[in-house]
Amino acid sequence: MRVLVTGAGGRLGRVVLPRLRAEGWEVRATSRRARTDPSARWVVVDLATGEGLVEAVAGVDAVLHLASSPNRGRQTHRVDVLGTRRLVVAAGQAGVRHLVYVSIVGVDRVPIPYYRHKLAAEQIVAAGPVPWTVLRATQFPEFLDGMLRGASRLGPVVGDPAVLAQPVDPGEVADHLVRRLTAGPLRGIEEYGGPEVLRFDEAARAWTAARRSRRPLLPVRIPGGLGRALRSGGLVTEATPTGTRTWADHLADTYGGTDAR
Ligand SMILES: NC(=O)c1ccc[n+]([C@@H]2O[C@H](COP(=O)([O-])OP(=O)(O)OC[C@H]3O[C@@H](n4cnc5c(N)ncnc54)[C@H](OP(=O)(O)O)[C@@H]3O)[C@@H](O)[C@H]2O)c1
Repeated sequence: MRVLVTGAGGRLGRVVLPRLRAEGWEVRATSRRARTDPSARWVVVDLATGEGLVEAVAGVDAVLHLASSPNRGRQTHRVDVLGTRRLVVAAGQAGVRHLVYVSIVGVDRVPIPYYRHKLAAEQIVAAGPVPWTVLRATQFPEFLDGMLRGASRLGPVVGDPAVLAQPVDPGEVADHLVRRLTAGPLRGIEEYGGPEVLRFDEAARAWTAARRSRRPLLPVRIPGGLGRALRSGGLVTEATPTGTRTWADHLADTYGGTDAR
C-alpha cells in the first residue's frame, strides 16, 4: 500500500513517516523543496499553486494531508482551503481510496481566523469524491511551549489563567493516524487529545518550574467570544482513547537536567 503524506517535513510529518514505514506502508512525501533524506521518496508539491500535485497523487492508495500554512492570512487561504480543494480533486481523479485530513479540536467553536480556514478545509474533504477521515487533534506541547515563551518575552508570563488546554504528544497522534489509515475511511470526524486538561495557570507554573525560572504570572483575561470559547473548553475534547504522555513528560524531556531558561 502506498501513501502520500503532504507537509511530511513538518513537526507531525517527521514522526509519522517512520511509523508508516514500520507498518509496511510505502511512503511518498511532499515538500515545497527538493529533499533527499532516505525516510521516504520525496516529491516537490506546492499546494498554493498546484505544482507537482497530479504527479504526486498518481498511483497512491491513500493520502495523509498534514500540510498547512497557519496564521498567514491570504496564504493560509491559498494553502489550507484552495490547496486542500486542489488535493481533493487530484486525489479523486487518481482514484485514491482514503484521504485523512488532520485538523484541530475546536475549529468549529473557537473564533480564530486560522481555525475558520481549517474548518473550510474539513468541509471540502467531506464533500469531495474520496472516502475520508478527519482527525482533529488538540495542541502539541511544543506549541504550548512556544506560546509560553512568547507570553513571557517581556518578563512575567502573561495569560488568561482560566483558559483550558489539553496538550497531546505528536508521536501519539502519529500512532493514531497510522491506525486510522490502516482501518480505512471513517467518513466522519474523530477527535484525539492528550491525557489531561490543564488550566493556563497550571501549565505556566509547571513550565516556569521546569525552566527553574521565578517569572511570576500576570493574569490577563482574554475578552469577548474568543475568551469565552477558550475558558469554556473550546480547545479540549472528552473523546477517548487519549494519548498518555503528559505536559510534565514534555517538560522533563525538554528541560529536565538542564538549567535552560
Ligand atoms: N501544531 C499543533 O499543535 C497542531 C495541533 C493539532 C493539529 N495540527 C495540524 O496538524 C497538521 C500538521 O501540523 P505541524 O505542526 O506538523 O505543521 P508544520 O510543522 O507547520 O508543518 C506543516 C508543513 O506544511 C507544509 N506547507 C506549508 N506551505 C505549503 C504549501 N504551500 N504547499 C505544500 N506544503 C506546504 C510545510 O512543508 P515544506 O516547508 O516542507 O513545504 C510544513 O512542513 C496541520 O494541518 C495542523 O493544523 C497541528
